[in-house]
Amino acid sequence: MTTASRAATWYDDEKREDAMADGHAPVWRHLISIMLETDLSNASVLDYGCNQGGLLRMLLDERPFSRGFGIDIAATSIDKARQLSTGLNLDFEVGDSPSGHVEAFDLAISHEVIYLIDDLEAHAEQMLAALKPGGVYYAITGCHTGNPDLDAWREIVEQRTMTRIIDRSIETYASTFLAAGFKVSARKFGYEGFIPFGHDRWATSYDNDLAYYRDIKTVFRLERSK
Ligand SMILES: C[S@@+](CC[C@H](N)C(=O)[O-])C[C@H]1O[C@@H](n2cnc3c(N)ncnc32)[C@H](O)[C@@H]1O
Repeated sequence: MTTASRAATWYDDEKREDAMADGHAPVWRHLISIMLETDLSNASVLDYGCNQGGLLRMLLDERPFSRGFGIDIAATSIDKARQLSTGLNLDFEVGDSPSGHVEAFDLAISHEVIYLIDDLEAHAEQMLAALKPGGVYYAITGCHTGNPDLDAWREIVEQRTMTRIIDRSIETYASTFLAAGFKVSARKFGYEGFIPFGHDRWATSYDNDLAYYRDIKTVFRLERSK
């Protein structure tokens, strides 16, 4: 694992890390609402870059599934995920690869993680191998070269986290997943809920913030053929 993988938490400040789950909750809810898989009752689910496991718990509540698994490089965040998930059918692992799991998952998700991954080609191959035939991987990011705030965000990520942004276009993401063997489709995130205004937001303007959740953030739906 790299230096970044030794991070206890992703943010350098645990309070910011705790706040991320609250900030992401409405976004996760919208994500769940646009996923095409409505019946997950027999599904096993992977959340790659799960942090404290909040998305898995929300999904379990809204679309119950049989077994869930979260992986993240941040060891303290994984400890917290385990504590917060006591009694639920969710397991967690510290790591930067799903390669210990072969044809194990019906559904995989990574929410705002792929822009931090150095070797996207390897990640794409590993995620394909971790899915069962016919399985689907949703990879969501707004950190791509079509984001007008990318340079400002690069500074924030470098200052406040143990990782760095890797510049890629939407086209590059799509081509990389296609080359790995996925059937690739994508959509805009399309979130039209109210966006709170405050002083600790990443966007350089409120206007950009409003456009980000609807038009910039992108959802890749990556299917492993049967
Ligand atoms: C922006 S946070 C998103 C967390 C979570 N998915 C969410 O929606 O709140 C990025 C997460 O990816 C994790 N991460 C970064 N690089 C990773 C890698 N190469 N492998 C696994 N996890 C990684 C970080 O530790 C962090 O928890």
